[in-house]
Amino acid sequence: MLSFDEYREIINSHLTDFIPATDPEAAVLRESMEYSLMVGGKRLRPVLLLAACDFAGGDIDQALPYACCLEYIHTYSLIHDDLPAMDNDDLRRGKPTNHKVYGEDIAVLAGDGLLNTAAEVMTGEVIRHSDDHQAMINHAKAAHEIMSRAGIRGMIGGQTADVKGEYMEATAELVRFIELHKTADLLTAPVRAGLMLAGADDEMLDAFTSYAQAVGVAFQVLDDILDFEGDEKLIGKKVGKDQDLGKCSYVCVHGLDAAKEELHRLTGEARKAVSGYGESASFFTELASKLEIRKY
Ligand code: IPE
Ligand code: IPE
Ligand code: MG
Ligand code: MG
Ligand code: MG
Repeated sequence: MLSFDEYREIINSHLTDFIPATDPEAAVLRESMEYSLMVGGKRLRPVLLLAACDFAGGDIDQALPYACCLEYIHTYSLIHDDLPAMDNDDLRRGKPTNHKVYGEDIAVLAGDGLLNTAAEVMTGEVIRHSDDHQAMINHAKAAHEIMSRAGIRGMIGGQTADVKGEYMEATAELVRFIELHKTADLLTAPVRAGLMLAGADDEMLDAFTSYAQAVGVAFQVLDDILDFEGDEKLIGKKVGKDQDLGKCSYVCVHGLDAAKEELHRLTGEARKAVSGYGESASFFTELASKLEIRKY
């Protein structure tokens, strides 16, 4: 296993390699896709994919295109999330949002372009492995896992509940639905896809699914806490937006103290989910603990 920074370095140096060449007529599309990809970002999702594949004894070179596709999908979700029709944000990853630089029309298309590129690259990888039946099955499972957790029963469904939940009487159930789908699904997908590429067994898949879901919900609970009391300079996005938009968040339903307790409880749950793997899973237990105290 490598360190988080080493996996992230691999991602950062290959992130745009898999995007097909674009025609000169669409040069601005390519530029705006690359702007949002390269402007910053923690790279948590692609790192999780490489680490999960590595943990299960897979080949991280084969996992790299999938890891980059996860970041394409995540980045598209942020570009669209920031649009005036959604959260109407001006700042992302410490820089002006995509639509502030390229306009709303190109920002919509850059999001579309990133999502479609992910599907194109992953299906291309499945075809590339068609002479090895088992490898092809593993690749197809990973691609399906990523597209379905990003899809209408996953991230897009969660985003729908999030925008429709604005200014509504928020319930604990609705908040958990939003956390699980808009956020935890895109953190569970890379873990499961990485394991699938390595041909991991069901026992490992189940343990790491529980881990990723707990980390994913915790990640959103802390995102909501940071929106209340975080430092704009550190997080690189505007704070106080959730309250302005009347968002249904854990903080708004249960309060700040309860949110911090829930963050701690979920972190413990994540660590426990993979405790059966002992020291060999320390990358994942340590990451859960680091994420609990992140400031951005
Ligand atoms: C932001 O995700 C969106 C949420 C799900 C809260 P990240 O906090 O991982 O954003 P980047 O990729 O580091 O910019
Ligand atoms: C967005 O949640 C999650 C996505 C699927 C993009 P938020 O709206 O809370 O994310 P931020 O705070 O803008 O990063
Ligand atoms: Mg949002
Ligand atoms: Mg937002
Ligand atoms: Mg937020």
